[in-house]
Amino acid sequence: MKNNEMETIGSRPTGFLGKIAGKLMNTIHSSAYKKIIDSYIIRHCGHSKLKTALDIGCGGGVAVKLLSDIDGIKKTIGVDYSDDMVNLSRDFNKKGIAKGIVEIQNADVSALPFEDNYFDIITAFDTINFWPDHKKAISEIKRTLKENGAFFIINAYPKEGTKWHEFVKFKSDIEYKDFLGTNGLKDVQSVIEKNTVIVWGLK
Ligand SMILES: C[S@@+](CC[C@H](N)C(=O)[O-])C[C@H]1O[C@@H](n2cnc3c(N)ncnc32)[C@H](O)[C@@H]1O
Repeated sequence: MKNNEMETIGSRPTGFLGKIAGKLMNTIHSSAYKKIIDSYIIRHCGHSKLKTALDIGCGGGVAVKLLSDIDGIKKTIGVDYSDDMVNLSRDFNKKGIAKGIVEIQNADVSALPFEDNYFDIITAFDTINFWPDHKKAISEIKRTLKENGAFFIINAYPKEGTKWHEFVKFKSDIEYKDFLGTNGLKDVQSVIEKNTVIVWGLK
């Protein structure tokens, strides 16, 4: 598959190929995302502060499942604007949904259907490249985060000179940090691990 076909499927996975991509992402990302959640999200936020979580662009639902497994978390919500991903995510999280601790909704990051100051943490795993309006997105994220709530971006960090580097919206950790800082988040930090960047800031 060519890079531009991968980009199209990744941007809004739908249909037969989209569903395969969603299932594949769940399998491929599971252990790496668990490590990131344990090493950064829980370490920096602490179990006790994490009661409500939102995962934006949840795809097949793997990060929603991992977040909902955090000790003490009461509600984890996943949103995606692809109906097929919403269905896949609901299927992947059916136990959490049955217990009432997980919800999956069809929503666009530019118009989050949630009240102000609701989430302790918002995550965006491998989705920010596809957002059409980053300013609108961050304003929605800030609106729905609690005071001192954390927003985490986890994204591929390709080498300069590669096709993926041309494709990604933010070309360096400095650009990611500027994006969060200039849009009003505080205590912005980043870590680069192999080909992944993890960037976070507090409201
Ligand atoms: C490459 S997939 C990653 C899925 C999942 N986060 C993961 O890491 O396995 C990107 C996902 O972001 C979703 N997405 C892209 N733009 C979006 C937007 N504006 N609002 C909501 N979801 C979006 C796509 O539908 C797709 O499911």
